[in-house]
Amino acid sequence: MASKFVFIASSMLLLLCSSSMAQKTASPPSLSPTPAPAPAPDYVNLTDLLSVAGPFHTFLDYLVSTKVIETLQNQANNTEEGVTIFVPKDSAFSSLKKPSLKNLTNDQLKSLLLFHALPHYYSLAEFTNLSQSSPVNTLAGGGQYALNFTDVSGTVHISSGWTNTKVSSSVHSTDPVALYQVDKVLLPEAIFGTDIPPAEAPAPTPEIAPAADSPAADKTQAKSPTSSSSQKSASYRVTSWGVLSQMVLAVSGGLAMFL
Ligand SMILES: *[C@@H]1O[C@H](CO)[C@@H](O)[C@H](O)[C@H]1NC(C)=O
Ligand SMILES: *[C@@H]1O[C@H](CO)[C@@H](O)[C@H](O)[C@H]1NC(C)=O
Ligand SMILES: *[C@@H]1O[C@H](CO)[C@@H](O)[C@H](O)[C@H]1NC(C)=O
Ligand SMILES: *[C@@H]1O[C@H](CO)[C@@H](O)[C@H](O)[C@H]1NC(C)=O
Ligand SMILES: *[C@@H]1O[C@H](CO)[C@@H](O)[C@H](O)[C@H]1NC(C)=O
Repeated sequence: MASKFVFIASSMLLLLCSSSMAQKTASPPSLSPTPAPAPAPDYVNLTDLLSVAGPFHTFLDYLVSTKVIETLQNQANNTEEGVTIFVPKDSAFSSLKKPSLKNLTNDQLKSLLLFHALPHYYSLAEFTNLSQSSPVNTLAGGGQYALNFTDVSGTVHISSGWTNTKVSSSVHSTDPVALYQVDKVLLPEAIFGTDIPPAEAPAPTPEIAPAADSPAADKTQAKSPTSSSSQKSASYRVTSWGVLSQMVLAVSGGLAMFL
């Protein structure tokens, strides 16, 4: 009788322990991605880098309006892999006439931007080897989202089928982050190949139209870069407050469970 009781009591204790353990182990992962006060030593702020170099305002405005900047920053924060980004100058966007970017859906625009990045840091010297392993997958994916590289007497040439261009300068190249300037916007076959549906073009949904149009308004922003950068930092602040309030909620929720 007594042993039975001991068994029940101890197994209940075990259950309690394991469930509180589970809570303990379950709650930290929701908190771990947000410790903002500790800056990593090799942290590179891509927004800062893109706004001082270039001019790359059009590319940066697209990255911010689609939030792809967060994906790239996240990849840049991953010091194991790092990131290589091909950045077209503002003039590359303004001279792009034939396939317009204006009719792209938000998802297509995101893919087009991710098509400009490789999920690994490559120094310029490594592109000699990379040309042997072409096509190379981009952050947008493989297949028709892969890029071909060729080394032409020390210059890195890039081909996407639609676009043939080259790296015209190295903006930044220190281990987790490489930023190379290119002369043209890289256009993937996956978007421009064959499948532009003409039926959908006349009736763009209201959600898509503002996203596609906002970077077009960068002519006015280009005149006042200070105003656009203050808008950006404001939106950053808003998102970090959102994260903070979620953190507070999560912590208080965790406490409530223990009490
Ligand atoms: C990247 O790292 C910095 C510094 O550690 C951090 O403030 C920022 O929130 C991180 N961004 C992303 C998208 O992971
Ligand atoms: C390129 O590949 C060769 C042979 O595969 C290797 O020996 C060399 O170290 C590589 N170079 C770079 C820069 O990765
Ligand atoms: C990339 O290279 C592969 C293999 O050499 C080739 O089959 C493909 O057509 C090339 N693609 C482009 C877009 O140049
Ligand atoms: C974009 O859509 C407009 C109509 O909304 C059309 O006139 C134009 O040809 C389209 N452009 C492309 C590149 O499909
Ligand atoms: C990166 O720089 C931008 C522009 O200066 C700033 O608004 C943002 O807060 C910075 N991000 C981080 C994570 O420090």
